[in-house]
Amino acid sequence: MNARTDLTSTFTDPDDLDNNRSANPHFQDVLNAGMSRRNLLRGSAGGALAAMFAPLALSGCGGGDNPAPAPAPVSPAPTETLLGFTAVAKTLADTNTVPAGYSASVILACGDPLAAGVPAYKNDGTDTGYDKRVGDCHDGIQYFGLSASGTRDDNSNARALLAMNHEYITPVVLHVNGGSPRPRPASEVDIEVDCHGITVAEVAKDAAGKFAAVVSSPFNRRITGSTAMELSGPARGHALFVTKFSPNGTRTRGTMNNCGNGKTLWGTLLTTEENWSGYYFRAAGDQAQRSAKLNASFARYGRNVTATSAANSRYGWETAGTGDLYARWNTSVVGTSTDGSDDYRHEWFCQGFMVEVDPYNATSVVKKRTGLGRFAHENSAFGLPVAGKPLAVYMGCDSQNEYVYKWVSAENWNPADANAADRLAVGDKYLDRGKLYVAKFNENGTGEWVELTVTNPAIAGAAFGFTDQAEIYIHTRIAADAVGATKMDRPEWVDVHPRTGELYITMTNNSSRRVAPTGTQTRVDAANPRAYVDVFAGQSTASGNVNGHIVRFKDASPEATSFNWDVYLFGGEAGADPKLVNLSGLTADQDFSSPDGLVFSRSTGLCWIQTDDGAYVDVTNCMLLAAIPGQLGDGSAVTLSYSGGVSVTTRMGAKPTAATLKRFYVGPYDCEVTGLCETPDGKTIFINIQHPGDGTTAANLGDPSKYTSQWPSIVGYGAGKRPRSATVVITKNDGGRVGT
Ligand code: FEO
Ligand code: CA
Ligand code: CA
Repeated sequence: MNARTDLTSTFTDPDDLDNNRSANPHFQDVLNAGMSRRNLLRGSAGGALAAMFAPLALSGCGGGDNPAPAPAPVSPAPTETLLGFTAVAKTLADTNTVPAGYSASVILACGDPLAAGVPAYKNDGTDTGYDKRVGDCHDGIQYFGLSASGTRDDNSNARALLAMNHEYITPVVLHVNGGSPRPRPASEVDIEVDCHGITVAEVAKDAAGKFAAVVSSPFNRRITGSTAMELSGPARGHALFVTKFSPNGTRTRGTMNNCGNGKTLWGTLLTTEENWSGYYFRAAGDQAQRSAKLNASFARYGRNVTATSAANSRYGWETAGTGDLYARWNTSVVGTSTDGSDDYRHEWFCQGFMVEVDPYNATSVVKKRTGLGRFAHENSAFGLPVAGKPLAVYMGCDSQNEYVYKWVSAENWNPADANAADRLAVGDKYLDRGKLYVAKFNENGTGEWVELTVTNPAIAGAAFGFTDQAEIYIHTRIAADAVGATKMDRPEWVDVHPRTGELYITMTNNSSRRVAPTGTQTRVDAANPRAYVDVFAGQSTASGNVNGHIVRFKDASPEATSFNWDVYLFGGEAGADPKLVNLSGLTADQDFSSPDGLVFSRSTGLCWIQTDDGAYVDVTNCMLLAAIPGQLGDGSAVTLSYSGGVSVTTRMGAKPTAATLKRFYVGPYDCEVTGLCETPDGKTIFINIQHPGDGTTAANLGDPSKYTSQWPSIVGYGAGKRPRSATVVITKNDGGRVGT
């Protein structure tokens, strides 16, 4: 996200917030445990590359309502070469730039109808009824195959449901005059709330073999910021979930700021709530009506107030009137009850979870899986499933200096559950009972998963005063602080290498990382070793880990409490200092900044890397790169020697070559490239373009030549010239797999 268009001058981009004031250690406090990295890790680059071409190891996730065999590995055509395409150059062009031999087209743009009878989108700010239109600010996206008869079919390449997130909104382009100041008109708020959440949309190949939306599909569904849903898992019914809407604390409304997402092994969407906190207004003086404990939690998640200072809301929805759907955005004590059943003082506690949706049933209940913790969830990835062992789900908390988490199911994996008819019951089984862990990255290349339990002495003894396990799932960051979790450079998407089982997680950037920190800044450490100054457009500068990196780790088993890690790749400009910035030796065909989306193809095994950048956008729009990673430990220890005598030793993977990392796509101007899914045969990928042209101002709405982007109309899609978030479909002209 890159929120420049919020309707308040006092709102800060939540991605940039650092609410972590814990004193958790960094690696300067950890004794050097010896550098014999290769004794800890297995394999070699050559071995890993050879193995990439072996059949994928995914198991137990094939079939549909009628159990079917697992998808057969797709054998490369004899002439196929992964990364055989010519790299796309960096560009500021306001278009889809793909390699020679590839085609890109647009579907499912913001506002497109999702039901018969919904008027065509005019794209002039007069459109309404977004509960039956595609939402805004597309993000994570998943592919759910459909058979010709309309049942789940994981092998279908021709018909599917795309389930995607709508992270936030670009209000300027949604309203005729760019949106009204506070107090906000209810008509505008209704549009904005409906533009959030999730879209499930059917797509199918037309007679020409090209994917198009099925507007009247009975599967089409919008879940919005006001959709009623269940609070499930171990915190269900907690006193902090009691609201006027749900006096017994079992239900709430809306899923907010859905960022990345994931797909379960049983055919459901596991979506996320990332920067939800800032949607809520909290009044000045509210702290006097709360316990010290709750005030500490509000502060740790960015809603601190004082007697004279309120916590402003992102879009001012609470100002639209006294109606229940507006009042709920005020998370202050306004009622007289002792339990919160007459107001929305607890509404804020009902957000921040992983959320499960069954896309194959448009009327299915939506469940917030509280056991997976409450924080700024980026996405979720299952480790490779092992029959008879617990399932592991990996997750990052995307704010500066936040943590990496793991959920381990109490139940052992039964592959038959992959094809169960009642998919949400399978979710109940594996996602409502289990253990939640947080990661510590040690300097020597090992790591620890620390279980977050109320009986852990560090948590039981924390000043916060945890009293029951359910509180761990609500105030998760505070429990993680207490056990000394490692502060990371904004953990974004995580995914599992489909053959090695190693986890790759992007650390997008961190403007508060420093060599010599002051105040709330954090010190460079082995897993977050870079801090430097970058000059933007020859003028302004940025400091910290400006360009981001990708950490890689491996558990010996799903329930392992230790792991090994290294840094797979460092972002940076090709011309940057090779000893402190461009450590991975990126060339002009590979250089990138701020990795965010990261998805492995289950067909080709390629690692797709997407950027959400603000540091290199004077040179290039955000992009999609294709990579063939090696394996944990295929590189070596590298020491960064900073001025002032400070040095940091990290564990770096083998540097990429022209054959293992290549820029594949550059998006339109002023966008983020995010979310990726594919047909099972790997011949079509779907990616999302979020907020193209979000630098467009209300004052310029009358002059399209002043929009910072006119995408996708500029590539021939849709009415009007206002920029719109949309999905891009990419195929290879010769019918081959994408990325070859
Ligand atoms: Fe929504 Fe973490 O990017
Ligand atoms: Ca981001
Ligand atoms: Ca993201």
